[in-house]
Amino acid sequence: MREFEMKAVLVFCFLSLSACQLIIPKRKLGYVYNGANSDALIHLDVHLGPLCPDSGVTFPVVKQVAEHYGKDNLKLTVHMFPLPYHQQAFLTAIGAHVVEKFGNGNVTVYDWFETIYSHLDVLSNAATANMTTHDVISLLSNFASSLGIPTNDFLTGMQSRELDRMTRAAWKYSCTRSVASTPTFFLNDIPIAADQTWTWIDWKRVIDPLL
Ligand SMILES: *[C@@H]1O[C@H](CO)[C@@H](O)[C@H](O)[C@H]1NC(C)=O
Ligand SMILES: *[C@@H]1O[C@H](CO)[C@@H](O)[C@H](O)[C@H]1NC(C)=O
Repeated sequence: MREFEMKAVLVFCFLSLSACQLIIPKRKLGYVYNGANSDALIHLDVHLGPLCPDSGVTFPVVKQVAEHYGKDNLKLTVHMFPLPYHQQAFLTAIGAHVVEKFGNGNVTVYDWFETIYSHLDVLSNAATANMTTHDVISLLSNFASSLGIPTNDFLTGMQSRELDRMTRAAWKYSCTRSVASTPTFFLNDIPIAADQTWTWIDWKRVIDPLL
């Protein structure tokens, strides 16, 4: 009887363990800006909502911070945390992976988000209320096309199970870091109480003493 109970407990543990195991990505998640050095002293990780207006405000600022310190001193990594209440955000996040894949280094996710953040109005819940998933993907393919990604490549990429899985893995990763809103910032893995009102001068005040 005891033995049976122990086996039952073991089986239960195994089941709960397997239920909790998140996707293990093939490589570290996130989009590194401008091929920055992994040995840089300062690592700035920013979790952005693909369709979040506040993230759109922060996006040029963190790039400015990265440019100021240079890629040997500061490694900027952007993570996508598509908020469910921005209804087209998950598709837009998959689009980022597609652009990365077909951009072959010439077009990057950073170009993608620059384009997306300047067209948030057409991707808002209100603007897309009567659109099907197909319509939204077609709209996104126009943005990709404006960056030089052939429409057929983009549409194929949007069907990719692997890219869908990577987008999920990235979202789950943000959850493991307790990200609950965007933008959320980490400096050398420590959460920073910054927000979209921060200018690069505010960042400088925090980063300079670390160097
Ligand atoms: C990337 O850009 C370079 C330089 O402009 C060009 O020669 C190359 O063909 C481009 N590669 C792709 C895959 O578009
Ligand atoms: C969506 O459809 C409804 C019902 O036809 C209409 O009232 C609304 O204006 C449409 N919205 C958009 C953004 O096209």
